[in-house]
Amino acid sequence: MMSRITLTRPDDWHLHLRDGAAMADAVVHSARVFGRAIVMPNLKPPVVTTDDARAYRSRILAALPSGTTFEPLMTLYLTDRTPVAEIRRAVDSGVVQGVKLYPAGATTNSDAGVTSIARVGEPLAVMAELGLPLLVHGEVTDPDIDLFDREAVFLERVLAPLVEAHPRLKIVMEHVTTAEAVAFVESARDGVVATITPHHLLMNRNAIFEGGIRPHRYCLPVLKRERHRLALVAAATSGKSRFFLGTDSAPHTVETKEASCGCAGIFSAHAALELYAQIFEAEGALDRLQAFASFFGADFYGLQRNTDSITLVRNPWRVPSAYRFGEGSVSPLAAGDTVMWQVEEIDTH
Ligand code: DOR
Ligand code: ZN
Repeated sequence: MMSRITLTRPDDWHLHLRDGAAMADAVVHSARVFGRAIVMPNLKPPVVTTDDARAYRSRILAALPSGTTFEPLMTLYLTDRTPVAEIRRAVDSGVVQGVKLYPAGATTNSDAGVTSIARVGEPLAVMAELGLPLLVHGEVTDPDIDLFDREAVFLERVLAPLVEAHPRLKIVMEHVTTAEAVAFVESARDGVVATITPHHLLMNRNAIFEGGIRPHRYCLPVLKRERHRLALVAAATSGKSRFFLGTDSAPHTVETKEASCGCAGIFSAHAALELYAQIFEAEGALDRLQAFASFFGADFYGLQRNTDSITLVRNPWRVPSAYRFGEGSVSPLAAGDTVMWQVEEIDTH
């Protein structure tokens, strides 16, 4: 049994850091481990311009604990009215690495999202031309579609036509949750990839109702059946470069989760890499963790792989029931559970 593993420092290709006073409490967990992260733009109001992204980036850098190195990679929030000129500005800026498509109404702060793909043909064409990836929240919002089917229906109705209409567009299907999405990405043309979260690898939908309703296990896309979880585990540990790490760590305060209408989002940055390591180990695939966590994402985005490294040691620890989050607290993924791996050190040389 391995007791120590050293990896090229990983990156998180899908992360929510929030804003304001609570942001410092979120980013500290990511900067502890990850070298870079693709930062989601679903703030209130959303990050829609390159200037918004630059300003948000500065606020993130200002919130970093001294002595940490962490590079926020910024994204724009696509709307029905995103001008083509904004896409060009984003690429020229060097700080924006992707554009996020939220179908309007699909999830937290998505009201300003895209109402129909037909409305964003021009910005998508320019993104394809300039090599700027589209990051997709892949769920339809039609109330007639069962919540658990929204991703699979999105693949058919929206993603398949989109992939064809823009044959050069780089597309990340974010936080895939179904066997259908895995199969879609595996057989799609070049330039179509997916991120996989630790919570979708660890839990199936029973977890939301284990002994009662568990609001801290509610996220979007919602957890699915066990057969889907198994497909995700197989994809993540397959060694295929189309699947890579994106935590979707999405902190909400305990009060906003434990409510009559609780928010969607699972906070995982406190133990994400450690939990991925546990999952890969259980599959006998620890030797594939580094590529999933540290290589495939950077390669897809056309960025250099990190040059620093991180060492995990086998040293079981118990996840606290809460972490500070602004004025309140956040209940983390795997609260109270024992995690087998612990980060020993980051070597920045
Ligand atoms: O569960 C989720 N939380 N899914 C999302 O798509 C958004 C995220 C958030 O921002 O809280
Ligand atoms: Zn997200």
